[in-house]
Amino acid sequence: MPSVTFILADGTERAVDAPNDISLLEVAHKNDIPLEGACEGSLACSTCHVIIEDQAVFDDLPEPTEDEEDMLDLAFGLTHTSRLGCQIMMNDSLDGLRVKLPEATRNMSVA
Ligand code: FES
Repeated sequence: MPSVTFILADGTERAVDAPNDISLLEVAHKNDIPLEGACEGSLACSTCHVIIEDQAVFDDLPEPTEDEEDMLDLAFGLTHTSRLGCQIMMNDSLDGLRVKLPEATRNMSVA
């Protein structure tokens, strides 16, 4: 089974099993990784924003849809290897994937 390492906002790393054909967001939720996913994958938020650590891996991912691009534009702390976690489906080729969680999301602004 592929494994994925999440790098949390405080720098802590969590390596977890990531079954094929579920989204990275679902992998995070199964493992109590604090990735929000407010709209549960319906491309109506940007709280599942993740940053792919390796540019080459990012380049190999299927292209984001226009809807994903639009939502990413709203994400806090957007980088050039940002994606929405709910749109990345796990498969064997993603074994060893390393993703960072952004320090904040737009739904969690500090009052
Ligand atoms: Fe809302 Fe991914 S969970 S866009």
